[in-house]
Formats: sequence, structure tokens, C-alpha cells
Amino acid sequence: MSITILEKVSLKDYNTFGIEVFADFFVEINNEEEIAPTIEYAKRKNLPYLVLGGGSNVLFTKNFSGIVLLIKTLGIYEEYVDENRVLVKAKAGERWHSFVEYCIEKNYGGIENLSLIPGNVGPAPVQNIGAYGVEVKDVLESCKVLNTDTLDFEVFDNESCRFGYRDSIFKNEKRGKYVILEVSFLLTRKAHNTRLSYGAIGRELSSHHIANPTLKDIANTVIRIREKKLPDPKEIGNAGSFFKNPIIARQDFLSLEREYPDIPSYFGTLGMKVPAAWFIEKAGWRGKQIGNVATYPLQALVIINKTGNATGSEIYDFSENIIKSVREKFGVNLEREVNVL
Ligand code: EPU
Repeated sequence: MSITILEKVSLKDYNTFGIEVFADFFVEINNEEEIAPTIEYAKRKNLPYLVLGGGSNVLFTKNFSGIVLLIKTLGIYEEYVDENRVLVKAKAGERWHSFVEYCIEKNYGGIENLSLIPGNVGPAPVQNIGAYGVEVKDVLESCKVLNTDTLDFEVFDNESCRFGYRDSIFKNEKRGKYVILEVSFLLTRKAHNTRLSYGAIGRELSSHHIANPTLKDIANTVIRIREKKLPDPKEIGNAGSFFKNPIIARQDFLSLEREYPDIPSYFGTLGMKVPAAWFIEKAGWRGKQIGNVATYPLQALVIINKTGNATGSEIYDFSENIIKSVREKFGVNLEREVNVL
């Protein structure tokens, strides 16, 4: 197998913030069999390596002095389970939204609420992507991975992925230990378990007078909502939510609520979940711009490369300032969802 290694490659087109940094070496992976030899090569040369998917959850603050493996493996396969269920397997390099479109077209239910999320299928389980009341963990059956120590293939079932809110084993204990090659989803064919409880979905459907929505109706609704309040990375560099929504212990939440009776919240397993966007807005950061960086005026949780000329460090410093303000004003620690490299 011959693998082409390119040198000094700009990563600007491979991260949705549109940050110009360079990788010393760069390999485009079109077949998953090429990953193990590339990692072996990196180990032999003592070079760090970075596995990159759609680049929608990374912030590059410096050049990468190692090998970037850009995962571009494609393929979607189906397996019959029973009359109502189908197992759909997608290769890591499939664009997430193309995969959603494929399922909607076939009327396979389960991921329609996850329409238009940027990024690829492979990284989806890493941060357990979620939107409008659904997370990848709700439909993921298993993932096939490459163990980067043994270079063997392994399979993680749903439970062994240890999913949490924007979290999984691949982000924590086993960070960097596995490359996700393929993800299997258990979807419905007929009796769809649609989730319409998220306020904006219900409102949008009834404003279009849709009483019994099809999967396509739901997907279109989600797309409309997202397009209204989230910037398209092709037009304005961003990585979606920059921070996670903090989970606040009940006592602390009650004292915040006494001071700010309008504080929005949801019940979480470990406490109350409050939208980070609310803290950011209340701390005066909604739409605020410093240099080339700003928060998106329609959703303060999204940090944008406003001028297109921001550096990663500028965005990082901007996010540090937000964290500091929110900590000073509310005593709440915001945690980044985006990976800083
Ligand atoms: N809000 C503000 N100011 C703003 C925006 C929102 O105060 O500028 C408050 C409002 O009270 C609003 C609430 O935040 O009702 C919730 O806003 P939204 O429905 O937009 O959801 P979110 O909690 O801010 C999360 C996810 C999004 C996902 C939406 C919809 C996280 C970190 N983010 O945002 O995910 O699309 O819910 O389910 O959990 C992403 O991960 O990249 C992402 C976009």
C-alpha cells in the first residue's frame, strides 16, 4: 500500500474556524487500512499525529509539528434487524449531514433532530453530538475503532462508550487511544420515536400547520431553526457551541435564581443545566467584538471569526475573557466544548 505524505500543508480549509496554521506532514486517508501504517510511520519517526475529521470542533492555536491524518473514508451500509428496525453503518469520513439526509430519504428514523450539524460521522460519538432533545448516544449501536497501541480493530458497544453530555470515553480516559472507523446506528423503519418536545420545534411545526410531521418535515424544521440562529461555517468561521452548558449544584442554582429570577434552566442528572449562552449574554458578551473575534449576535454561545482573519490565539484569549467575566459575575466555571490544539 502506498501512502502519500504531503509536507507543509495549510489546515485553513480543514477547520471550520478557518484558521491558517500549517501541518508539517499531511496524509489524506481514503481507506481505513491506511491508518495503521500511517500511525506506525509516525511512531517510528517519533512524530505526534492528529486525526482530523470535519474540523468542526477544533481551535488551532499553532502550527502542528507532526502528521495530520485527514479521514475521508466513505460508505454507508445497511443490515436488516427486524420489521421495524435497521442497522445503518457509516464510515467515519462521511459528512454527518449527508448521512442524516441518506436516512431521511430512506425514511429511517432517529437522527432527524440532528440535521445540519457540521462535522463528520467519525467524531460524532467522541463528543456525543446532540441537538433538540436527541443525542447520538440515543441511536448508536456500536463503533468500530482502531486501537492506536496494538493497531488492532476493536468494537465498542453503546455502554462501553460511556456517553455523557457532550462526553464519551474517547474524550476522557481513552483520549487519543482509538481512531473511530465506522459507526453503527439502530434506526426505525415505521414506528418512529419522534421527539418534538423541544419548544422551538413545536412552534415552528405549528406555524407551518404541520400536525403529523414526517421525518423530512422534522428535519426541515430543525434546519430552519438552525439556519435562523447559527452561522454557516462556510460564511463565518465558527465551531458551533464554544462552551458546554454548565451543570450547577442545586444550592448554587437556588441562590442564582434568587438574584436572577429569569434564569433559564433544565433538570439534569447532577444538578440544574443552565444555558451557557444566558451567562455569556448577561455578562455583556452577546455580539461583542474584540479585534477579529466576536460572539454571534443571535446565539452568544457561538464564537465567530468575525473578519475571517482571526488567529487561534486571539479566539482562545477571547474565550478566556468570557470565562473570566462569567466566573467573576456568577461564580460559574464555563468549560470549553471545542478542542484547543
Ligand atoms: N440564550 C441566551 N442568549 C443567547 C442564546 C440563548 O440567553 O444568545 C438562552 C435562552 O434562554 C435560550 C436558551 O439559552 O432559550 C437555549 O438556547 P438554545 O436553544 O439555542 O440552546 P443552547 O442550550 O444554547 C444547545 C446545544 C446546541 C444545540 C441546541 C439545541 C450545547 C453546548 N449546545 O445550545 O448545540 O444546537 O442546544 O438543542 O449543549 C453545538 O453543540 O455546537 C450546538 C450548536
